[in-house]
Amino acid sequence: TYIVAEPCIRCKFTDCVEVCPVDCFHEGPNFLVINAAVCIDCSLCVDECPAGAIFAEEDLPPEYEKYVALNEELSQVWPVISARVDAPADADEWMGVQEKFQYLQT
Ligand code: SF4
Ligand code: F3S
Repeated sequence: TYIVAEPCIRCKFTDCVEVCPVDCFHEGPNFLVINAAVCIDCSLCVDECPAGAIFAEEDLPPEYEKYVALNEELSQVWPVISARVDAPADADEWMGVQEKFQYLQT
């Protein structure tokens, strides 16, 4: 499966949603997650994300390991998002910022 990791937090550009053929993204206040049970591993979303937040699980950098469980857990409670929405007004300022886990809103 594919995993949305920390670079998405507070960026949430949602370009990924537009290309996903199976609507497996789920939306929280400032982060998206992928439902592994629905993802068909097409990889289309990876290059769409301006923040570089999406990884194949086997390529996930070690520092993002906890995002595997977060994608699994939060995709069970957050609603499906199937169309692009406006990014946060300050999304560009959060691109490339490290240590964003503290800002994750659930
Ligand atoms: Fe959707 Fe494909 Fe990305 Fe999985 S890999 S989340 S199916 S776009
Ligand atoms: Fe997040 Fe990138 Fe999608 S910032 S919402 S994973 S396009």
